[in-house]
Amino acid sequence: MKQKTEKNSPNKVLEIMQGTISKKNNIYPTYINLNNPKHIEIEDKYFSSLVVINYYHEQNDLLLKNLIDTNINMNLSMFYEKKDTYKMIRELTYHIGNTGVDLESKNQNTQDIELVAYTHNDAKYIRKQMQVNNEELYFFYLYITVFANSIRELEYLLNKVEGMIQSKGMQSRRAYFRQEQAFLSAIPLMQNHEDVKQVTRRNILTSGLVATYPFISSSLFDENGIYIGNNIYNHSLVFIDRYNSDKYKNANISIFGTSGAGKSFYTKLLILRNAMLGIKQYIIDPEREYENVCNNLGGTFIKIGPTSNTHINIFDIRKESIEEEEKGYLAAKIGKLIGFFNLVFGEMDEEEKAILEEKLIECYAKKGITFDDESLFKQDENKVTITKIFKESRDMPRLEDLYHLLEQDPKTKVFKTKLIPFVKGSLKFFNEYTNITLDTDLIVADIYEMRRR
Ligand SMILES: Nc1ncnc2c1ncn2[C@@H]1O[C@H](COP(=O)(O)OP(=O)(O)O)[C@@H](O)[C@H]1O
Ligand SMILES: [Mg+2]
Repeated sequence: MKQKTEKNSPNKVLEIMQGTISKKNNIYPTYINLNNPKHIEIEDKYFSSLVVINYYHEQNDLLLKNLIDTNINMNLSMFYEKKDTYKMIRELTYHIGNTGVDLESKNQNTQDIELVAYTHNDAKYIRKQMQVNNEELYFFYLYITVFANSIRELEYLLNKVEGMIQSKGMQSRRAYFRQEQAFLSAIPLMQNHEDVKQVTRRNILTSGLVATYPFISSSLFDENGIYIGNNIYNHSLVFIDRYNSDKYKNANISIFGTSGAGKSFYTKLLILRNAMLGIKQYIIDPEREYENVCNNLGGTFIKIGPTSNTHINIFDIRKESIEEEEKGYLAAKIGKLIGFFNLVFGEMDEEEKAILEEKLIECYAKKGITFDDESLFKQDENKVTITKIFKESRDMPRLEDLYHLLEQDPKTKVFKTKLIPFVKGSLKFFNEYTNITLDTDLIVADIYEMRRR
């Protein structure tokens, strides 16, 4: 029979859809075995569910704390159903009335009476909490699905979880013959299955509800964070957004750990990530362990020490040393140098600082550099440009120049002496012109050789 088909009939579209695959097809398991009453088997994994059927009274601790903190693979699912307060109070009052009558008529055996008295008191308690303390009543359901790679492991884990449940004053049952329903209730489908609902339903008041609060895991999770690693206690993933200023005062971090824990690995990872984002980085490296990273990322490796052939002249004034639009190159530099000499000479008093400052100004003046920022520019010798260019390292004074100035003045002889190692002795690498570029994004200062001082 030849079918008459129109070009855009809905049937035609449907037919095409049937020949395509959706995203769901990619996540479907290849098989689900529901034949065993004790567990479900999905793609070589075994799943078995527990339903929690009772909670002892007076439980003020967090109910789920040890379940959430464990590293056992499991799904935990909770349902809360809020009940209508007005209706509940009416029903309770009716129940209390009925049981009250039963209690008064003594024509029952003692065991029954005890049971009636128990529910009677319970109902009275709940009604009082709702009427006097403004609490609300909920139905509460708790499902736990444990999963493992083998039946033996599953059994072991189930026992462990049952122990934890009991230690928190809860009672559980294995959902035998109802594995599928319990499994479905414990995955995020918002489906509290009728078949298991009846068994797990429990009354809970607002105050009791607090104890079921689940978001207590000691994990760190910032929504826009970057994956740092796994929490060793509960295997949860740790994501941190250091730049979340609402949460953290600043983005500083410090890394602690036993040796071999992975501190250096993580630091290098951070360096790589920052480099990929084009962030300028400075590293002070006392262990000489960042040389490879530096070379591979095309950074500048500055060895600081007697055997080094890379030098930075501390007297250098660089164009970038003050913010654009700002003024006062020399003033800013002298401030920093006083700080440096304070370390070299030991604590200086105000008078000594003033004398030193005078000498520093003189030192720069000899090179034609003054407080006038114009003095830091010079005519381009190669005449490539007509405009003036910033003075280079060669145009700056060196430690030696200061040394000679201090030598000439009897007031500053003591300073001069302290400078001898820096000019003539073991530390004379401080007395060199800068011979490296500092405009790369990664600068590593290797201070390995300075450690023994
Ligand atoms: N996240 C990780 N993944 C793989 N290997 C790692 C990881 N963290 C560290 N390592 C390895 O563990 C070893 C020790 O790490 P390291 O960073 O040198 O430790 P630490 O600096 O804390 O003493 C190194 O061989 C490193 O490659
Ligand atoms: Mg290390």
